[in-house]
Amino acid sequence: MKGIILAGGSGTRLYPITKVYSKQLTIIYDKPLIYYPLSVLMLGGIKDVLIISNEETIPLYQKLFGDGLSIGMQIQYAVQKAPNGIAEAFIIGEKFIGSDSVSLILGDNIFYGKLDFFYKAVNSNKKGATIFAYQVKDPQRYGIVEFDKQGNALSIEEKPQKPRSNFAVPGLYVYDNKVVEISKTLKPSKRRELEITDVNKSYLNSGELRVEKIGRGVAWLDTGTPEALLQASSFFGIIEDRQGMKVACIEEIAYLRGFINRAKFLNLIESLPESSYKEYLKRVLDE
Ligand code: DAU
Repeated sequence: MKGIILAGGSGTRLYPITKVYSKQLTIIYDKPLIYYPLSVLMLGGIKDVLIISNEETIPLYQKLFGDGLSIGMQIQYAVQKAPNGIAEAFIIGEKFIGSDSVSLILGDNIFYGKLDFFYKAVNSNKKGATIFAYQVKDPQRYGIVEFDKQGNALSIEEKPQKPRSNFAVPGLYVYDNKVVEISKTLKPSKRRELEITDVNKSYLNSGELRVEKIGRGVAWLDTGTPEALLQASSFFGIIEDRQGMKVACIEEIAYLRGFINRAKFLNLIESLPESSYKEYLKRVLDE
């Protein structure tokens, strides 16, 4: 299973934060936003990741993660010339995906809690697609899935004016290799984007779409407004302070999930500047 993080876009809704700065690099409490989606892919067991963004921002991500080897991963980068839609990720990533399956996560999507639902979807090796559904109070802002009484998905609509349910589709998707061919057949929508919802509709129509509801024990946080950014920072500040443990600490995950051994983890820690982050990782090593 390959992983893609789509981390471009125009970010205009957060102007002026995003005038010189990519949205996915804004700080959520003590680390850049993109750490959170990267950690989700890692917790799914995915080591081979492509980060897609615009030309100006790619060098910044490269500075953050390099080739990923220090955390036992392989991280590559690709440019999206313009925000032509989420589904374009599979066209840009065609070579990277090769003949494998692929999980896509949007670079501004944060998940916190028990992420077994994702691990299972990644590691079950099923044909077709698995997407998720999460209850929200503002369904007009998302891709929305409608279920029948048995819990089967009936329809999916992108940002419907009259939503048929409160179940939003989060920006985390697991596809088999057909997603590349499906994406190539898409036509741009009214907002001139290759829509991920159209990819999901195509799987739905061929009877190969699984939609798994995510329970409310998992937090799927919004990062679309300054208020939401502040709330997400407070949320993780409170949790990290209470537990004395970090969320989305990619070095810790790499070590605890066996991406790197103790010796490599020690090397990595030694390469970091003196900081509370480094002290934290030393503690993880000693425990
Ligand atoms: O967050 C979940 C929602 O994401 C889904 O429920 C919707 O079905 C899906 O269409 C998408 O909705 P948005 O319209 O809110 O997506 P947005 O345009 O904000 O883009 C999401 C992220 O992907 C954002 O960080 C920018 C990045 N992006 C987006 C597009 C369209 C790119 O990197 N390139 C793109 O071409």
